[in-house]
Amino acid sequence: FKVTWDVAAAEKGGYDHFMLKEIFEQAKVVKDTLMPRLPENQNRVVLDEIKLSKDELDNINKIYIVACGTAYYAGLVGKYLIERITRVPVVAEVASEFRYRDPVIDENTLMIVISQSGETADTLAALRLAKQRGARVLGVVNVVGSSIAREADDILYTWAGPEIAVASTKAYSAQLAAMYLLTCHIALELGKMTEDEFVSLRDELYQLPRKVNRVLSKAEKIKRLADKYVHSKNVFYVGRGLDYMVSMEGSLKLKEIAYVHSEPYAAGELKHGPIALIEDATLVIGIVTQEDLYEKTVSNLKEIKARDGKVLAIAVKGNTEIEKVVDDVIYIPQTHWMFTSLLANIPQQLFAYYVSTALGHDVDKPRNLAKSVTVE
Ligand code: G6P
Repeated sequence: FKVTWDVAAAEKGGYDHFMLKEIFEQAKVVKDTLMPRLPENQNRVVLDEIKLSKDELDNINKIYIVACGTAYYAGLVGKYLIERITRVPVVAEVASEFRYRDPVIDENTLMIVISQSGETADTLAALRLAKQRGARVLGVVNVVGSSIAREADDILYTWAGPEIAVASTKAYSAQLAAMYLLTCHIALELGKMTEDEFVSLRDELYQLPRKVNRVLSKAEKIKRLADKYVHSKNVFYVGRGLDYMVSMEGSLKLKEIAYVHSEPYAAGELKHGPIALIEDATLVIGIVTQEDLYEKTVSNLKEIKARDGKVLAIAVKGNTEIEKVVDDVIYIPQTHWMFTSLLANIPQQLFAYYVSTALGHDVDKPRNLAKSVTVE
């Protein structure tokens, strides 16, 4: 008798890498994070782990969202949505900066910390600082019973399950789902969203897992694009508004696992510097999912084409005009503008994954990086 498989291979469930397996688990992760909180028979977000009352929320005059790495980029999406919908000012900041700059915090501050592991040293220190100064701390955490989960006043678990690959994928999607829930919850409590508005957003959220699978079904096409652009030396990720927040995560993934230099940029800032770097065959990934900013970003993409750059766009299905402007397009299904971030990021994950494997790198264990940074 001879064992012909090993435990690691079995755990990958037929996928070549944990990262790919985790990318393909995202419909389930989004469903598991959203659905228990959105029962059809109640017109509210059911967040029983959160004790923050309506009165307490009424007294909050500022929100901080603090995290590191990918969790911070999920926080930026949260900042954009919560501030825009609830009109409460929100500051998002990386924990290593926040903790050393004597931030303005008091009892009327709500501090949201986001962490997959719940053990990141800087994030934990930021939480403790905020608590010391009287802020209410809400943790958005994946690992049950972790330090951040234990020390936060309120907790919203992301149900992503164990994430093994160093580069975070499904945890980010679950964190975005948590940001959508929190935005709706705070807005309803503060009277900034009507029940009808909520019910129609909730219907959109119910559709998200299925739409995630539609994006995943484009993996082969994305692999071909990764092969086409595999030799790019410098890549820019550009967008406006929420698309800019998403571009930051896309750029990070490419750096982390493919070791390709890339930079995210607010599309409108290109002409204040980086456009000088665009030359023949520089790759620019343009995210254009936000209807109200669409024309603005497209005009920036035209400026890149005029300088012989290559543009790969991530756009919303039905918007075929973009094909006239750019070299390649990956379409995501239509959804409410608040929720495009989750769908638009998936092609970026797959693109980074396929570039990394084409270059022969160790996708699951990228050099110099750790899954959980528990020391400063
Ligand atoms: C490390 C990991 C990243 C992660 C970051 C924050 O850098 O490699 O994937 O986003 O830490 O980790 P956390 O566990 O706090 O979300």
